Amino acid sequence: MRHADAQTQPLSLTAPGPLAGDVTVPGDKSISHRALMLGALAVGTSRVTGLLEGEDVLATAAAMRAMGADIVRNGPGDWQINGVGVGGLLQPGQALDMGNSGTSTRLLMGLVASHPISATFVGDASLSGRPMGRVITPLSLMGAAITATPGPGGRQTLPLTLTGVCPAIPLRYTLPVASAQVKSAILLAGLNTPGETVVIEPVPTRDHSERMLAGFGAALSVTQAPEGRIITLRGEAELKPQSIVVPGDPSSAAFPMVAALIVPGSDVIIRNVGINPTRAGLITVLQAMGGDITLLNERSVGGEPVADLQVHHSALTGIEVPPEGAPSMIDEYPVLFVAAAFAKGRTVMRGLEELRVKESDRIAVMAQGLKACGVACEEVEDGLIVDGRGGDPVPGGATIAAHLDHRIAMSFAVLGLNARAPVTIDDARPIATSFPTFVPMMEALGAAAQR
Ligand code: S3P
Repeated sequence: MRHADAQTQPLSLTAPGPLAGDVTVPGDKSISHRALMLGALAVGTSRVTGLLEGEDVLATAAAMRAMGADIVRNGPGDWQINGVGVGGLLQPGQALDMGNSGTSTRLLMGLVASHPISATFVGDASLSGRPMGRVITPLSLMGAAITATPGPGGRQTLPLTLTGVCPAIPLRYTLPVASAQVKSAILLAGLNTPGETVVIEPVPTRDHSERMLAGFGAALSVTQAPEGRIITLRGEAELKPQSIVVPGDPSSAAFPMVAALIVPGSDVIIRNVGINPTRAGLITVLQAMGGDITLLNERSVGGEPVADLQVHHSALTGIEVPPEGAPSMIDEYPVLFVAAAFAKGRTVMRGLEELRVKESDRIAVMAQGLKACGVACEEVEDGLIVDGRGGDPVPGGATIAAHLDHRIAMSFAVLGLNARAPVTIDDARPIATSFPTFVPMMEALGAAAQR
C-alpha cells in the first residue's frame, strides 16, 4: 500500500500465526552514542563492535568527524575511532545536523561547552520542538554562551549556537529533572574542566556514561547520600582508547518482547539484550503483569550486564506501575501501553511527565492512537490509564500518525499484530533512527508486513 505522498512509507504488521524464533536486536543506542564520543576524546585508536548503525548514532559520528575525530567503519557494526584527546575538539566548519536525536544534541552540547569552539545545532521538526533549557542552564553556569530559538511555551529550542569556554567553571549541580542526557552533558563538559564536576541525581537514571567514563580511565566516583547519587568527575582527564562491545538495546528488545506476549501461542528468544538495572524496568513490570519472560545466560559484556530473553505468550493482568521505576523504562512506556491494552483489567501508569517532551508527546499521541484502535484509555497530565481487553484482539482498523517518533511507529506496528483489522502507521521512516532492522526482524518471527 502506498500513501499519496511518495515521501512517506506506510507500514502495517499482522500475525498470521504465533511468533516464533530466535533473534537479536541492534546495539544499544545510548551506549553507541557514548562509545563514539569517548572514543573521539581518547588519544589513540578505539574499536567499537555491535555499534547501532541507526540515524541517531550516525548523526553523532558525523558531528565527531566534523570536530576532528577520524572515524572509520570497518564492517557491519564494527567501527574504529582515532580520537583527538580531551580538549582537542576542532571548530566544526558547518552546522551540526542532529536529525531526530535528542541524545546527540544534549551530550554534544556538553562536549562543546568546555572547548574554545562554537557550534550550531540544527535538527528535524520533532527535535526542533524539544526543550534544551535543561542543558542550557547548567552549561551556562559552566561559562558557555548559548543562543537558542524561542519555542512554544517559553521553551528554548534548536537551532541554537553554543560557544564553549576554556577553562570552564567546575559545577556542582542537582538535577531538577531525572534525565541521563542532562547528567551526561554536564559530565562530558566536566572532562575538559579543571577541578571536580559534581552531579547529584535525586532519582537514578541510566548510568552508561559513568560506566564508560570509568572504563576509559577517567577519575570518577559515585556515592550514595540522602540527597541522591553523587557523581564526581575529576576534570582535565586523559582518556585511554578502549575496545567496546555494545550489547543489544533493551529499548529495542521491548518491541519483540511485547509482541510475543500478546500474540497467542508465541515463543520467542531475543539474544544478547542489555539488562542494566537502570534500563530493565520493563521486564520487571511485564513479569508483575503475568508476562512469562525468562532471563537466560546472564553474563557481562563490555562492562554491562546482558542476558538472552525467552518470552512466551501470556495472559496479562493490569497493575499500578510504580512511578518511581519510570526512569528505568522511560522509553518503553509506549509499548507498555500496548501490552496494557491486552491485559485483564486496568493498568495505571503515572509519573510520566517526561513522556510529553520525547520525540513526540507520547502520552497524547498514544492515547489518541489507542482510542482510534478501540482501546479504552484515559489520558491524565502525568500518564495513561488503560482498561485492557483481557487478551481479546483490539478492533484496530485505524491509520496512526507517527509524528516523526520511531517508538510510536513501532508500538502501533506491534498493536496491529493482534487486531481484528490492520493498524497502519502513516510513515514508518522514523524507525530507522533506532532500529533499522525492525521490520525484517519481525518478519523473521513470522509477522507479515504490508509496506
Ligand atoms: C537517553 C536518556 C533518556 C532517553 C533517551 C536516551 C540517553 O532521555 O529517553 O532515549 O542516552 O541518555 P532523558 O535523559 O531526556 O530522560
